[in-house]
This record gives sequence, structure tokens and C-alpha cells, in this order.
Amino acid sequence: MATSQIKVPSTIGGALPRIDGTLKVSGAAKYSSDYHFPGMLYAVPVCSTIANGKIFSMDTAEAEKMPGVRAVYHRANVGPLYRVPPGEGFSAYLDERRPPLEDDIIRYYGQLVAVVVAQTFEQASAAASAVKVKYSEAKPVIATHLETEDEPRVESSRGKPEEAFNAAAVKVDETYSTPTETHNPIELHATVALWDGQAFTFYATTQAIANCRDVMAQMLGVQPENVRVISRFLGSGFGGKLWVWPPYLLAAAAARNLHAPVKLVISRKMMFQSVGHRPRTQQRVRLAATADGKLVSLQQDYLNHTSILDEYGEGCGEATPYLYSTPNLKVTAGMMPLNVGTPTAMRGPGAVPGLFAIESAMDELAIKLKMDPLELRLRNEPAKDESNGLPFSSRHLVECFKVGAEKFGWSQRTPEIGSMKKDGLVLGWGMAACSWGAGRFAAEATVDLRNDGTARVSCGTQDIGTGTYTILAQVLSEKTGIPLDKIEVVLGDSALPEGPISGGSLVTASVIPAISQAAQRAMQSAVLMATSGETAHFAGKKPQDLEFTNGRVHLKDKSPETGVDYAEVLKRANVSAASGNGKSGEYFGGPQAEEKYSVHSFGAQFAEVTWQPEIARLRVSRVVTVIDSGRIMNPRPARNQVEGAVVMGVGMALLEETKYDPRNGAPINSNLADYMVATNADAPSIDVTFVDYPDKIVNEFGARGVGEIGLAGVAPAITAAVYHATGVRVRELPVRIEALVLQQERA
Ligand code: MOS
Repeated sequence: MATSQIKVPSTIGGALPRIDGTLKVSGAAKYSSDYHFPGMLYAVPVCSTIANGKIFSMDTAEAEKMPGVRAVYHRANVGPLYRVPPGEGFSAYLDERRPPLEDDIIRYYGQLVAVVVAQTFEQASAAASAVKVKYSEAKPVIATHLETEDEPRVESSRGKPEEAFNAAAVKVDETYSTPTETHNPIELHATVALWDGQAFTFYATTQAIANCRDVMAQMLGVQPENVRVISRFLGSGFGGKLWVWPPYLLAAAAARNLHAPVKLVISRKMMFQSVGHRPRTQQRVRLAATADGKLVSLQQDYLNHTSILDEYGEGCGEATPYLYSTPNLKVTAGMMPLNVGTPTAMRGPGAVPGLFAIESAMDELAIKLKMDPLELRLRNEPAKDESNGLPFSSRHLVECFKVGAEKFGWSQRTPEIGSMKKDGLVLGWGMAACSWGAGRFAAEATVDLRNDGTARVSCGTQDIGTGTYTILAQVLSEKTGIPLDKIEVVLGDSALPEGPISGGSLVTASVIPAISQAAQRAMQSAVLMATSGETAHFAGKKPQDLEFTNGRVHLKDKSPETGVDYAEVLKRANVSAASGNGKSGEYFGGPQAEEKYSVHSFGAQFAEVTWQPEIARLRVSRVVTVIDSGRIMNPRPARNQVEGAVVMGVGMALLEETKYDPRNGAPINSNLADYMVATNADAPSIDVTFVDYPDKIVNEFGARGVGEIGLAGVAPAITAAVYHATGVRVRELPVRIEALVLQQERA
């Protein structure tokens, strides 16, 4: 009768494999574009081939006559599509804040101008290219040098940064640029839209099912209860799938018009056009220090590009105000509208490009001071968050530096350029700090303890590939003592109690308190059943005399072994599941803790490059990363996140850049052959360490979550290493081999 549920080892912190791993590797996991329905049609958008101008005429006659074509929709016949009213925060949020086909004005290359729906994808593609659009074209505003006449917006300020800078002994005043970058998850954006005459169901690639439901409802003009969004598995997102983009609406409109399921999967080329990107940034950084390396002034004035339609601020000053101790500081922001699609969040938005500038400038300052760059950071470690005077909830950056230096062998570094060699290669060693926020969003979860000895946890969040399924199961297992293999996790459905967006690396920290409360309520239900009725196992006892431990209901003053398996309690009560009387667990999100504490994650990045001047070959050979993200719930997916982020950082440093043709505004390298992401062949040896200090300010386990922080600091550590190897300071990413060769020849 008693099952093997006694003595369950703690699952928190265990290096457990993903519970959904088998589904994924066996192909059983269904991604959005894997859904097929009888009578399903395929939609292919028609994209503008100019970036600035107007649609002069559109001829759809030929396309409409082509085989299998069911409809061609454009502004005149697509049906009602509305704007989302201006709101606050992330409620019904989206970055391109208007429906597609709203007018005939073209503001970026690839803007959707029509959509063809046909019986097969091939028929729809062929017909889409037969739609003839004539434009009146103006020269687009496309720039790689950003400027604005608008007054810069002050994001953070203290002391007298300008005066302190002018009076200081040692100064750096340089401008750093990061290019436009495009999210390239393996899975393309996909929507399968169903309309039953009253309600929509969307199988959609989204990092935010509830937000997607709310946006779709408002833009389609239906009630939210008539929209259901399902996203069981995502082939990653990197921020690109946080918000709703125009193609999703075209799939919905087509399904409504034709009363048929419609599938729309965008092309790799469209990934570069109408579904967001990280904008170009240009950041002037002024640092000033005393001769012994104490920062006296830090100024960061940054610009990023945005679109003609929307204002997107990259937030490059995200980590600047609290990272180092300095009495004088100012961060200002501005933007320049270009004829490009609307930018969006991309892994570590703001902090990642921002830290490229700040940490590069710190490296340059160390060189001017003739000081070890690690020592410079140690001398400027703050005792508290100097932007608001609050103590850090948990900050172990110094330990990250020290552990990283030890693992990397930093003390062996000789500072002279090109002075380190190995196997005929010049070695370069560089380092940088990294940081990322540790926010939490509201979350609701339900727990059912079932009479067959299994349990279920559900939450309307989604797993974008980071391991959320597994973390949810771990939390429930920890709270109830029910083994992982008896726990079912349900997520990725907007019909479930609302969970957090999968953004900002905050799902784990947000769901812990909600699941914890739901589990508590469910266990309480089981205890109540054990005392209710004459035949109950503990008839005559009061609920408060009992406890629920390791899946067993027992007397508080006796061990769990003396008690009864909860499944037996439920069976005897003839109840299918203990679910906390239908009440879900709720967490109301930040920012209560933020009123008293500065809550962030930290880390240190150490990079080694090898440089072969004879053949101009640069490689990143080794990265040591030490992360302080609070308690690590499960080191396997956590390490996986950081390793992936480091590889992405190699791409950011050396390869990634979306290039726009200045003549027509087209992203010209809009494919995976010309837009290079780092592959396995580019991956260095990666050593990831978590210092693993629980941050009890954020939740009971002290977990802050990982996902984005691993990318921050990688690029500046690499460019510092490049300088150390070659003497060439790269302030504009990505590092170009020709820049290294030319500058070296000149020197
Ligand atoms: Mo992340 S850029 O918040 O998906």
C-alpha cells in the first residue's frame, strides 16, 4: 500500500535531465508548425520591396487565378484589424504597435502588403510572387552612424559627472557601437489559426501566451475569452517571440475570412524584416579615475535606432548605475528612427550592448592606469547600489572575479601586447563583468494531487527551451515529496491560470511562490480529507494535528512512515484529486523586495583568443564564466543556458551583423549563409561555474534564474583579449579581420 515515496532526495539543486527531453529527441514534442487540421490552408505573405514610399497599385488578378489559391488579402479586403490601445507595462503589449495592412505607406523593407492563401504552401508561395505591386518610392533613411537633434533623455544621474571628469587625473572618452542583430532561433515564427465562427485558437510561437491572447483579442476585435493561445514547445525565441508580430494577424484574418484553419510560417528571410531585431547602438562612454584607479566619473550617452512607426529604447544603461562605485554618474539615451522594422528585445536587451561599451571602457581605463583590469574592478566594487542607496539582495561579484581568475589562470597573464604565446599562436586574455536583472512577474499555478499517486502542476507560462517544464516539476516535488516521474507538468495554454512571460530570465523566480502556495493548499486538502468522515484514516483527529510529508499524511508528532500515502486518503474519501478547493496558488510579482533591496544577478567572463598574424586567423579558444544567479535550481539546464549564451557571445563579438542596403533598405544578409551565427566549430572550450548563493529576498529557494546573463560581458571580454593579442582596440562590433590586419600594418 505505501509506495516508495519515503525519503525523497531534495530535487532542488539536483543536476536532473529535462523531463521533456525524451519527447524532444524522439520527435514527439509538437511545435506550433507541427499542427495539422483537416482542410487546412497555407498563407504566405507578400512583402514590400522598398523601405520608404507608398503602394501605388496592386494587381492580384493573376495570383487569384493560380492553382489552389483561395484568396489574396490586402488592405481593402482583409477585414477589421484594430490597434491595441496605449497601455502600461506588459499588458497587451507589442512592439510594432499597429495591425498589418493599416495603410498604403511603406516604412520598411519587408513590410507586409498582402497575403495569399492556398491549399498548399507551394501554391501560396508561387501566387505570392505573382502579386504585382507598384510603389512610388522615396529614398529610405538607413544609417550606421546614429544621430539625433532631440534632447537626450536622462536615465540616471548623480553628483557632478562633467566637472569630475574634467578635473580627473586619468580619462577615457570613446564611442562604442554594436550592430543590428537578428534573432535566429531554429524555429521560425509560426501561427496555425482556427476560427469556429465565434472563437479563435492559435498554435503560435510565443514566449507570452497570455499577452498574445490579449493582443490578438484586441486587434481582432473579439473578447479575450474567445481567444485561446497554445504554445507547448518553442524552438527558442531569444526575445524575438515575446510579442505579437504582423504575420500572426494575417493568419488570424485569413482563418476568419475563409472559415478554415490557416497555417502561416514565415521564411528565414522574413525573420530579418518584420519580426524584430536588436537595434544598432552607439554609445559614448566617458570614464575618469584617480591615479590609483578609483572611479570618479562615469558617463554613458547612447543612441539606438528605432523604426519610423514605433519608439524602441534599447536600455543600454540597464546595468550602469549600480555596477561600480562612483560618486558622479550620468546615463542619457536617445534614438534615431530609420526605415527598418520595429526593433525588439533580444537576449539581455540593454545590458548586453551596454556592457560591451562600459566594460570595454573599463579595459581601456585599466591600460591607461597601467593596472590589471581585474584589479580595477575590485577597487570599484560598491558596498551598496549607489543609484538608490539600497543594499544588494545578494551580490557576489568579487567572488565571481576571484573564482574565475583562479580557474582561468589569470595570474599568469603578462600585460604587454602580444607577449603571450603558445604553440606558435599569439594568446590574448581579456575579462569583463556581467550583470542582469532579477525581476519577477505575477504568476498563478494549480496543483492536483491525484488518487493514483500522481500529481499535476499547471501554469499558463511557456517553456522556450530553457527547462521550465523541469523546474515546475522540481518545485512541486520539493514541496510534496512526490517523485519527479509521478509529476505531470502542463503549461503553454492560455486557458490555464495565467503565468509569467518567458522573458527577462524571470520565469523560475516568478513561479516558485505560486507553485509553493498551490502545493500547500493541495496538501491541506489532503489533510482535511484524512480527518473528514467516519471512515477516514484519521477520523476524530483535527487537521491541525496532521502533517503532509514526503507524500504521506501523518500525525505531527509521529514520523511520516507511520502515516498514510495521500493516494490512499483520497481513495478512501472517494475523491479524484486534492486541489486546494479549486484555489490556485498566486504570486503578485515584484517589486515589493525592490523597495528595500537592489536585486540583480552578476558574473565574470574571462576569454582567451588565439591570433595567427601570418594568416590573419582569430579564434576564441577558451571562456571561463562564473555566475552569481542565486540558488541554481538545476545545474544542467542552467549550464546549458550559460554555455549557449557564451557561444552567442562569440557570435556577437566576431560574426553577427544585420546589414541593410542603403539604397533600398533591404536586410541583405537575410539568410544563415550570410548572417553568421557562431556554430559548434566556433565554440570555445567553456567552463561554467555557479557560485550558488541563495537569494532569499526573491523567493524561498533563493533562485534568481538564468538565461540572459551568460551573454552579457562575453563580447567585451573577447575584444579585450583581441587587444591584448594584437594591440588593436575594436570599438565597433563585430571584430573584422581586415580591421586587425590593416591596423597592425599601420602600426
Ligand atoms: Mo528575453 S530578450 O527577455 O526573451
